[in-house]
Amino acid sequence: MNDEVNFWLENIFEFLKKELSLLEIELRNRLLSVTDNKIDLHNVFNYFFDIRGKRLRPILVLLSSGLVRSRNSNNKINESEIKLAAAMELIHNSSLIHDDIVDESSHRRGQVTMNHKFNNRIAVLAGDLIYSHAFLIMNDLNFSRISGILSKCVEKMCQSEINEIISPFTNFEQYIAYLDAKTAELMSTCCKCGAIIAGADEETIFALGEFGTNFGIAYQLTDDFLDDEQPKDFDVNLLLQAKIYCEKAKKNLNIFKNNEHKKNLLNLIQYVINRPNLKLKESQDHCS
Ligand code: FPP
Ligand code: MG
Repeated sequence: MNDEVNFWLENIFEFLKKELSLLEIELRNRLLSVTDNKIDLHNVFNYFFDIRGKRLRPILVLLSSGLVRSRNSNNKINESEIKLAAAMELIHNSSLIHDDIVDESSHRRGQVTMNHKFNNRIAVLAGDLIYSHAFLIMNDLNFSRISGILSKCVEKMCQSEINEIISPFTNFEQYIAYLDAKTAELMSTCCKCGAIIAGADEETIFALGEFGTNFGIAYQLTDDFLDDEQPKDFDVNLLLQAKIYCEKAKKNLNIFKNNEHKKNLLNLIQYVINRPNLKLKESQDHCS
């Protein structure tokens, strides 16, 4: 088992097996079809598949769209949902490539980053290229409300990253707003757009958007805990806060009847509070 995957995430992978394999095909077809005579772009894009993540953003799209469809007793996977999930994964990955350049990071997910494997110039442009493919997919979908939400989301992520460089957060509220912008906004967008593409009503779109926000904040809080990124200017118990945001996310699902999609959104929350290495790190911190 990958050391970032636990029992809860395994269950979700199993539940979405068919959708996730279609997602991989969509991603491969997109990126590996890009060719250029001058540079070996395959080499650059194979890197994307080599540092494969957990596909959390596509999972959020697919569980949200599936939840809406299952309400209408429609269990047929729709091609547009797979495309939307692929676009979200591409945006996420381009943001990480850009983030590694900004942070001058040498490693991600146990592998050398693109900026270090190639160089900053190749990495920034490859990040842009991956980003452009997300918008080519959005163009295929031809769904202006979704394109608008996604563009606003990227605007918020970029603005917040610039703000953080110019004037870093100094209190708890600013810290949560930063986590919201850098991580939760894209997760919330995945849930909202998944709901929209499946034809949800406004109340459902709102509830799933809130779920994505609270889930995303909880996820980033555990990430900061695991990465030893405890804020220095104020006191905050990262794990306690993560649990509080998980409870909020759970409540956002109260409007939905129990079914397999809801169960797997709840499994996602379990995944976060039981992330691999969390317990180990907690006990190490107690001992030190
Ligand atoms: C990781 O933070 C960074 C992000 C989750 C988002 C970064 C956002 C941008 C660079 C702007 C958006 C750009 C595009 C193209 C959509 P971190 O450095 O705290 O975490 P890490 O340990 O994963 O690097
Ligand atoms: Mg970083």
